[in-house]
Amino acid sequence: MCGIIGYTGPRAATPLLLESLRRLEYRGYDSAGVAVLDAMTTSVTVVKSERKVDELARKLDEVGMPAGHVGIGHTRWATHGRPTVLNAHPHMDCTGRIHLIHNGIIENYRELRAQLEAKGHELPSETDTEVVPHLIEDCYRGNLESAVRHALSRVDGAYALVVIHADEPDTVVAARLNAPLVLGLGNAETFISSDITALIPYTKRVMVLGEGEVAEARAGVVTVRSLDGTVVEPRIITVDWDAEQAQRGGYPHFMLKEIHEQPQALRQTLRDRVDPDTGLVRLAGLEIDDGVLAGVREVHVVACGTAYYAGMATAHAIETLARIPARVSAASEFRYADPLVDATTLVVAISQSGETADTLAAVREARRRGAPVLAVTNVVGSAINHEADGVILMQAGPEIAVASTKCFLAQLVCGVLLALYLAELRSALPVEELRALAAETLELPDKVEGALQLEPQVAELAQRLAHLRNAMYIGRGANVVTAFEGALKLKEVSYVHAEGYAAGELKHGPIALLDPDTPVVAVATRSATLAKTVSNVQEVNARMAPVVAVVTAGENPFDDMAADILEVPAVRELLSPVVNVVPLQLLAYHIAVQRGCDVDQPRNLAKSVTVE
Ligand code: F6R
Repeated sequence: MCGIIGYTGPRAATPLLLESLRRLEYRGYDSAGVAVLDAMTTSVTVVKSERKVDELARKLDEVGMPAGHVGIGHTRWATHGRPTVLNAHPHMDCTGRIHLIHNGIIENYRELRAQLEAKGHELPSETDTEVVPHLIEDCYRGNLESAVRHALSRVDGAYALVVIHADEPDTVVAARLNAPLVLGLGNAETFISSDITALIPYTKRVMVLGEGEVAEARAGVVTVRSLDGTVVEPRIITVDWDAEQAQRGGYPHFMLKEIHEQPQALRQTLRDRVDPDTGLVRLAGLEIDDGVLAGVREVHVVACGTAYYAGMATAHAIETLARIPARVSAASEFRYADPLVDATTLVVAISQSGETADTLAAVREARRRGAPVLAVTNVVGSAINHEADGVILMQAGPEIAVASTKCFLAQLVCGVLLALYLAELRSALPVEELRALAAETLELPDKVEGALQLEPQVAELAQRLAHLRNAMYIGRGANVVTAFEGALKLKEVSYVHAEGYAAGELKHGPIALLDPDTPVVAVATRSATLAKTVSNVQEVNARMAPVVAVVTAGENPFDDMAADILEVPAVRELLSPVVNVVPLQLLAYHIAVQRGCDVDQPRNLAKSVTVE
């Protein structure tokens, strides 16, 4: 969603802000703006665009790239008020001296606005954000940091915000509550962003702000306080992502790059996680006592979107291997469902970003009820990591495309690793079987590499299917998840209506939709229920719907029943979604390209969904 960048230091602020805003574009946004503070004149130049960063850059060129070494920049994903110049951030106070950018939602903005207007403040925009610079103006007694703390004590809701004041020309103040914000620590300079990805070209030393903390940055010196003014010991981490990982590196889109990075991403996910001596899974960072894990009565996975599908696979793996009852809830439902979790339930929160508001809220609800919470995330220092008892890091590297691909595979693999670990703790499987499964898991990166060889065939298929309006995806057993995720990828990036179904469910309703213009993508690889899937495909054939089948190499069960056959490397069923989903990702990608869609930033979507 919205992106934030702030800077104070020796560099020229405007080009740095623009460059960083481009790096934040992937989060999804509709309008953008910057404010640059010139210490010589103690004046602030604000330039905003109701469109993309390119348009903002053009406007900045027109006004002649404002001078200054302190500045803030924002990409806005509209919530309160349309994407217009007036509603775009930064917002300012009545004096025009205080400028602020904000992610999140000020829940009590209506009553604050009424109070401010009664005092004579003028708030021309439709946004909730605009109340904050005016509140700061009201609280300002010559110290911006103190004014921000006092203003925020009157605010309800979620915020990550950065503020500058023309009268304090080397200072940037930042604060967060229930929305992500990190500070990059450079040599006599400080960067502030909603997102680690924007910081990695400049520094790998990152300060993670805690909930309700306020940071005051003056060039290289940062002081952190809680809202009541108590100085807080800052939490500093080192990020091991490379700047190149966050660039397209010759690929036309991040999505394609990330699909191709999957073997390497999985090698990182698996690094040091199978003990070479014992052949068994080891998960550093779990932080939950083995005795507690061994004794849990149930596992409850919470997640959203693609991560929810990875959650389904994780629950399936845990039930199959560790024989612990496991279920999955959409995180957005969990907290309102009076969930039956307590100290004997292991709650597993899966989230690429570690910042998804619904998943974070589910984590808090689970902890409130006494459940141990394990996070599976990709971003060190993220809010969910901070609030969970233990973490399994996906180690997949930065994922920039809005549609998740490599992190989905990493989530599936983390789910299998967790299931194997729980199975070992509970002696649910013979050690030999655990070792065999761990060894096969280690082979997955090579198998994914094999599946990627299908790309030319899938690209040609996509050309033929590019005109389609509807598609159905079916699978059974472990691959119901593959069907769901394949359908989600297609709708997200190509805007084609697609449904994922358990193959046996087709005849209970959705088969009514089938006709010669509705292709059915059937995942029909080696499995205990393959013969049943073949029967389901026969039912599809009888309705003249064209079939695209994903089958195990050399084991095509379809004769001429399927118009297109995509052969993937053989993998045992439990692990097979990791391999089988790859051609479906490629299919969604190439259909989207054929249809001229904005693959990396599909309409209406955001990478990190930080509102409920
Ligand atoms: C789909 C997609 C989303 C995310 C979901 C959760 O391609 O990316 O469905 O999976 O918004 O995001 P995280 O994993 O960051 O919690």
